Amino acid sequence: MNKKFLFLICLSLLIAGTVSAQTSKYIGADKCKVCHNKPAKGEQYNKWMKEKHSQALKSLASQASIDYAKKNGIADATKEPKCLKCHSTYDAVAANLRGGILATEGVSCESCHGPGSAYKSPTIMKNQDMAVKNGLVLPDEKVCKTCHNPENPFHKEFKFAEAVAKIAHPDPTLAEK
Ligand code: HEC
Ligand code: HEC
Ligand code: HEC
Ligand code: HEC
Repeated sequence: MNKKFLFLICLSLLIAGTVSAQTSKYIGADKCKVCHNKPAKGEQYNKWMKEKHSQALKSLASQASIDYAKKNGIADATKEPKCLKCHSTYDAVAANLRGGILATEGVSCESCHGPGSAYKSPTIMKNQDMAVKNGLVLPDEKVCKTCHNPENPFHKEFKFAEAVAKIAHPDPTLAEK
């Protein structure tokens, strides 16, 4: 009897846990910036602003995109869901999961690190296990290849080690530990 009861409690906790992870919302890069832009900790926000992911919407307005759109019957690549799904975190997620993320962010932090509403609190963030349980992703090659694949009309061969080095934004205080 007691065991059965315990089992039911565990089961309901498990279900509750799964639901909360699935309903995590995308909070946007400005929220991450509050804690992740100190030079001593690697200023991740500034580094992201200087690399191409944050600028990914600009490419949809470039001459290459205009030419591609014309040839393929696309009225406006900057508004085309087929392009935005990889060039914009905001457009890639369901409207009910947008909790502060802006349409202007391009490929934002949370496309790689997972939606942040459940892991963003400092007590959770400081504990890697807890952060991961609350939806933080430490991205591997598979995550990159959800976008870096031949479905992209401008695809180039994706070399993970080289690509990771290009976007590196390490926190030197974590490496010391
Ligand atoms: C309230 C402050 C705060 C906010 C907001 C915050 N973080 Fe963190 N984050 C931390 C702290 C503290 C650590 C632990 C490392 C450290 O001490 O610098 C951390 C660690 C991390 C790590 C490294 C985890 C590891 O163990 O390797 C990642 C990745 C990360 N945060 C991503 C994000 C992203 C993406 C966002 C926005 C969606 C975000 N964080 C929002 C405070 C924050
Ligand atoms: C949500 C989709 C998405 C994910 C996930 C993603 N990328 Fe990208 N990435 C893009 C887009 C779109 C561009 C092109 C940006 C532009 O120039 O408009 C890009 C550009 C890049 C570039 C610049 C290429 C150049 O020509 O300099 C590098 C490097 C890169 N990504 C590495 C990575 C790595 C490493 C990962 C995984 C850790 C990753 N990306 C995950 C969408 C993504
Ligand atoms: C499957 C995800 C995906 C889709 C769909 C996608 N892109 Fe991209 N796009 C990327 C990635 C990733 C890159 C960066 C490629 C690289 O440099 O390795 C990129 C790069 C580009 C570039 C820069 C090319 C260069 O060499 O500078 C343009 C322009 C572009 N995409 C336009 C578009 C247009 C227009 C559409 C819609 C018709 C589109 N993309 C659809 C993922 C995608
Ligand atoms: C294109 C994918 C991508 C984007 C966009 C991205 N990151 Fe990362 N991030 C990574 C990868 C890959 C790592 C290295 C993971 C590892 O060391 O296992 C990383 C590591 C980190 C770390 C931990 C550094 C360390 O030394 O362990 C923090 C903190 C972080 N990112 C925060 C952010 C924030 C904040 C943003 C947005 C402003 C962001 N990231 C945008 C892919 C990304």
